[in-house]
Amino acid sequence: MLKAAQKGRYAVGAFNINNLETLQAIVEAAQEEKSPVIISTSEGAIEYAGIEYLYAMTKVAAAAKIPIAFHLDHGKNEKLVKQMIKLGHHTSVMFDGSSMDYKINIRKTRSIVKLAHKHRMQVEAELGSIAGIEDFVSVEEKDAHLTNPNQAADFVKRTGCDSIAIAIGTKHGAYKYQGASKLDFDRLDAIRAAVSVPLVLHGASGIPLWLKQKCTRAGCAIEDAKGVSNRDVQEAISRGISKVNVDTDLRLAFTAAVRKHLNNYPENIDPRKYLGEARELVKRVVKEKIELFGSKNKA
Ligand code: G3H
Ligand code: 13P
Ligand code: ZN
Repeated sequence: MLKAAQKGRYAVGAFNINNLETLQAIVEAAQEEKSPVIISTSEGAIEYAGIEYLYAMTKVAAAAKIPIAFHLDHGKNEKLVKQMIKLGHHTSVMFDGSSMDYKINIRKTRSIVKLAHKHRMQVEAELGSIAGIEDFVSVEEKDAHLTNPNQAADFVKRTGCDSIAIAIGTKHGAYKYQGASKLDFDRLDAIRAAVSVPLVLHGASGIPLWLKQKCTRAGCAIEDAKGVSNRDVQEAISRGISKVNVDTDLRLAFTAAVRKHLNNYPENIDPRKYLGEARELVKRVVKEKIELFGSKNKA
């Protein structure tokens, strides 16, 4: 899926799920847009919903006539990642050793790659801190935290990972920037030139204004939320990003719809009414992402 995206200069969206409605929204959107899609489950999602429920739901969804991958997102617990590989429910796993010492990250990633490949599974690794670019006060500090292109080449060669998540100035969650959206495109170009495996952009939610307004009008206290601009995401894809991770924008959509419904219909006690509205709004957001990432009609 990612090799095709790399060749076609578009990106596949990886969307996080924790429940049925979010999964349905993502798959319906991808199906209607004829797009390949990656369903991501974090360690937190597995703890919340249970891997068997998540897998069973995704297996049903995978009957859709589009390519669907089932991915373990941010596996930080080596034991859990290996357990998931052996269980064989996912099609790919991410091992996130980015907070570890470089040599330890290499050693652990390599051992996971070995096991995953034996089970015909792909591995996404991570190098660099996916943390706010505005937090770095000097060039030296930025260089110490964002992905180093030469190190990325060495890392990929020594670990054998199939794709790599890079740090170029995005951050997880709803508060990425105080000022304008900002990515280190020169660094992205240098990494792209140094590494041949597909590149992954985490922390790519945009916090679109219409969604933020919907949320705040419904009572969410997220006035300072700020995401990556659509222009920057598209630029990153045009410079070689092949997988884009989105969770926060889906959380915003889900929460805005539920809040709005409960505010408007205090007499309603049927969860299907507000979860149904949440599903519709998440679906709208996923469709927008698919258009933005250029994966429409690539299924
Ligand atoms: O990057 C992480 C995703 O947003 C998942 O978040 O660990 O709270 O499930 P989570
Ligand atoms: P956001 O918090 O920007 O949605 O990023 C999600 C992510 O990177 C999941 O791995
Ligand atoms: Zn992430």
